[in-house]
Amino acid sequence: MNLFEIFDFMPAQGSELAVKTDWINNWISVVSAICTILIVGVMLYFAVKYKRKEDDAPTPAITHNTTMEIIWTVIPSLVCVFVFVYGFNIYKEMRTPPANAMEVQVLGWRWAWQFTYPNGKKSNELTVPVGKPVRLIMTSKDVIHSFFLPSMRVKEDVYKGNYSFLWFTPNKLGKERVFCAEYCGTLHSKMMTSVNVVTEGEFQDFLIDRTEGEKSDLPPAEAGALVFKNNACNSCHNITDQKLIGPGLKGLLSGKMERAFESGETMIADENYVRESIIYSKKKIVKGYPPVMPSYEGQISEEELSQLIAYLKTLN
Ligand code: CUA
Repeated sequence: MNLFEIFDFMPAQGSELAVKTDWINNWISVVSAICTILIVGVMLYFAVKYKRKEDDAPTPAITHNTTMEIIWTVIPSLVCVFVFVYGFNIYKEMRTPPANAMEVQVLGWRWAWQFTYPNGKKSNELTVPVGKPVRLIMTSKDVIHSFFLPSMRVKEDVYKGNYSFLWFTPNKLGKERVFCAEYCGTLHSKMMTSVNVVTEGEFQDFLIDRTEGEKSDLPPAEAGALVFKNNACNSCHNITDQKLIGPGLKGLLSGKMERAFESGETMIADENYVRESIIYSKKKIVKGYPPVMPSYEGQISEEELSQLIAYLKTLN
């Protein structure tokens, strides 16, 4: 029997990441258990063995043992460094979605989750194809929720006014639970749904089947093109890289576009930057442009914002 199986109380492993996460989790559990048994065992044994035999027995003068002190400093330090390096590498992987990941928009509110797929299909359960990386772009309509996929070993808070993300590659067919992991009010515990991992063929059928959600829902990128047009964004922004009144938008969300601001700051443009620039348009002024863009706060819905972002991603 694998020693690590003693601690195997985790839910089914639904992704490659789950295997790695469990491995280090079990490793830490085993090392901690061994250390606890050794330390407590030796402590009890010494307490009995060196108990003062007579009331007037003198206390022995013990100084120190350099060799032992070096050993019990160096070995635990190496163990900690190993745990840190292994854990950091997993964390880095968890926070770096592959460029080819399928994007699904997640909207949370009291008390439900809604998923929007690239073709505009919406559902209240997450359905994903096996073996393909999926990136979730998540936001909330109201309070803080937390999207927790125990089988994939990923969890991320979901806020109003901000996009957070997580990604995973499911490697096991079947249905697993999804929880809200942030206490969000009286029905928090009911804020559950499922992740259905299906074959590629089943996933395509699921996308085409429009009995759930509105049949008229356009793909987010196409709906975003309409939002762009209806708000006359094109009167100030080219969709090429040519400047108009404002900067051109081509490649803005390619993940490689660096923006320099009047304040001297720079950043790689991402979804949250685009969102902030639309809602709080005076916060970051791109270097060399006048601060003339009006704020769209209250004039554009959460859904329209994510559609615009999906549209901007097509301008590469
Ligand atoms: Cu949403 Cu707890």
